[in-house]
Amino acid sequence: MEITCSNVSYQYESPGDEWAVCDVDLRIGRGEKIVLVGPAGSGKTTLLQLFDALIMPTRGDILYDGLSVRAMARQKGLPSVRRRMGVLFQFPEDQFFQDTAYDELAFAMRNFFGPREQEIERRAYEITQGFGLDLALLKTTSPFRLSSGEKRKLALASALMISPEILMLDEPTAGMDAAGRRELIRILSSLDDTTVIIVTHNQEDFLGIIDRVVGISGGRKVLDVRKDRLLELLESMERFHIVPPLVLLVQRWLSQAGIRLDRTYYDMEDLISFLKGHVPGPRP
Ligand SMILES: Nc1ncnc2c1ncn2[C@@H]1O[C@H](COP(=O)(O)OP(=O)(O)OP(=O)(O)O)[C@@H](O)[C@H]1O
Ligand SMILES: [Mg+2]
Repeated sequence: MEITCSNVSYQYESPGDEWAVCDVDLRIGRGEKIVLVGPAGSGKTTLLQLFDALIMPTRGDILYDGLSVRAMARQKGLPSVRRRMGVLFQFPEDQFFQDTAYDELAFAMRNFFGPREQEIERRAYEITQGFGLDLALLKTTSPFRLSSGEKRKLALASALMISPEILMLDEPTAGMDAAGRRELIRILSSLDDTTVIIVTHNQEDFLGIIDRVVGISGGRKVLDVRKDRLLELLESMERFHIVPPLVLLVQRWLSQAGIRLDRTYYDMEDLISFLKGHVPGPRP
């Protein structure tokens, strides 16, 4: 699904308050993968909630494949677009409301598509096993009794159950173990046609699989750059208090030190392997 934000602003309270999101223009194409970065309080979660149609723009409009969210709200058409979206909230417990973790997983499929239980169980098994979640245990456990890393995995798995056309993840790797992180990256890199928007303070987790970085500061879009141009724009990030990915900072430093690389590296281990082969190590 393609999403277009047209001059979108959002104000939480009464007129006169600060704008949480201000005059944002943004187009995210079908299948495109972006990270949304910015300092705490810059408006990332608010923008994601606007994309998810949980809140309506105070000004401007959001289009889903050309259809206006305002028009859809008037015609009570929002459920038809919501069922094409998977969302992971910043605080996963905010999205849990079922008695068992398994019912949480099954909810969207039962609710939107009503398929047979057997089909739901097969899908749930497929999705949860990579995250190391025990399906039998999920059937008897309240989602609120899971650890915070497990809650995030459950919320992610729930979002993935319906194979959404657009996936929105708010800090998906916060508190997650290395295996969960690897599984998330593996899943995201396999979703060719799915539009993915990831809000994160850890850009490096996703550099390998994304197309673009969008930066937001004080509610305004301050950066919108394809991955292959990121290295040129590290200063702009720093200017807006966005922490650049460490792997790119190291490459800027190497370049300043006169060490030439054969390409831009997005993964620290790959960069280290290159350096081991090309830079003289310590003398024995
Ligand atoms: N429910 C709310 N009511 C009033 N103001 C809010 C509410 N939620 C957020 N805000 C304000 O809107 C602005 C943007 O908040 P938002 O949660 O979108 O930031 P964020 O970029 O997601 O921050 P973080 O990185 O800390 O998650 C902040 O100034 C915040 O105080
Ligand atoms: Mg947030």
